[in-house]
Amino acid sequence: MTPKKPSDTDQPADSHRKKTARPAPTPPSSGSIFKKKPSAKTTSESGPDFASGRTGRKKNFAGKTSSRKGESSGDDDFLPAKEGRRAYNKLKTEQTGTYDEPRKKPLKTKRPAGLPPKRIDKNSPEKAEFTAKTISDTDDSYRLNKYIANSGVCSRREADTLIAEGKVAINGTVVTELGTKVSRKDVVTVDGATVNPVDFVYILLNKPKNYITTTDDEKGRNTVMDLVEDGTGHRLYPVGRLDRQTTGLLLLTNDGDLAHRLMHPKYKVRKVYEIMTPEPVSDEQLRTLAAGVTLEDGPAIPHRVQRVPGSETVIQVTVLEGRNHLVRRMMEAIGYPSIELARITYGGLHIRGLRNGRWRYLRPNEVNDLRKLVKLFNLDMKESDSKYKRGKR
Ligand code: URA
Repeated sequence: MTPKKPSDTDQPADSHRKKTARPAPTPPSSGSIFKKKPSAKTTSESGPDFASGRTGRKKNFAGKTSSRKGESSGDDDFLPAKEGRRAYNKLKTEQTGTYDEPRKKPLKTKRPAGLPPKRIDKNSPEKAEFTAKTISDTDDSYRLNKYIANSGVCSRREADTLIAEGKVAINGTVVTELGTKVSRKDVVTVDGATVNPVDFVYILLNKPKNYITTTDDEKGRNTVMDLVEDGTGHRLYPVGRLDRQTTGLLLLTNDGDLAHRLMHPKYKVRKVYEIMTPEPVSDEQLRTLAAGVTLEDGPAIPHRVQRVPGSETVIQVTVLEGRNHLVRRMMEAIGYPSIELARITYGGLHIRGLRNGRWRYLRPNEVNDLRKLVKLFNLDMKESDSKYKRGKR
């Protein structure tokens, strides 16, 4: 399936915030993503606002609280490093008398059956056996419901229903047995239309500056595709768009349904941008921004505005829509150019741990969390596939 090519904007204008979903309390990040820090001075004025409402939740500059279902929001988005969490808790204790419990280490779980031992001699028969098993399972014989689901038609369960209803045929013969196996050489039709399974690929790229978010540039400039395509061997498309000088999180995929929905304003996918300004931004200006600004293509109301503790000139703005140069224009509307702009989160995914210019595969649980966020069924991806386990390049 060919994903819709992203247009100039990754989402059309949609700035009403009446039904804005409300994220869980978001601990401020423990520092800016930007290496260059024009001002490291922290004043009480520039510190994060921990004023809590009835629920004990943190208020943003518009005095609103937030939490969001289905999106790993709040804590997940800004999960601070150990030191950051300590500093955050200290600050929070000073201001509210409470602090967040440290995260408990997950209990060690037993290695699932079926996986090879962790240390294995690469020439041993055990290794050969495991490799052979993996290949035969992924290569040829699919269960029919999986074949249909991987074609993007519906979920596996829905495929079972279609099979039972006699709507599925293999090589022209209707099959109603649920466990039927099928290979790539077979022609499978659903309601008379041929379906083909696709190997969906999902990439998270930390976009560097001076790369254009496009699949093709007629002037021959560097594009984000140059950074990923050779490595994946798949034709991918960027989900939305980052300006040439914007850095940070960019998704690329050939899963058209997912890309389309992530860009659609209806799903209100959260994007957090970090902005460095040449001078400190006053609280008043941040409140003005949080209340919404008027741009030439209509009003723009951020979902959230907050400072990055430890820096007077770096702020974070969360938006639920995508328009051309939206964040830069919002900042200009309150009188500040953005000297650095980076997207640090997208739909609960974070750029943390990925160096500038590098990319990784999304893990199956990350893909399914994204799909869940935009109301798509889960894909059946193999967690044991090494590329997912390590997010390998
Ligand atoms: N807003 C901008 O101004 N630029 C981007 O690249 C993304 C959002």
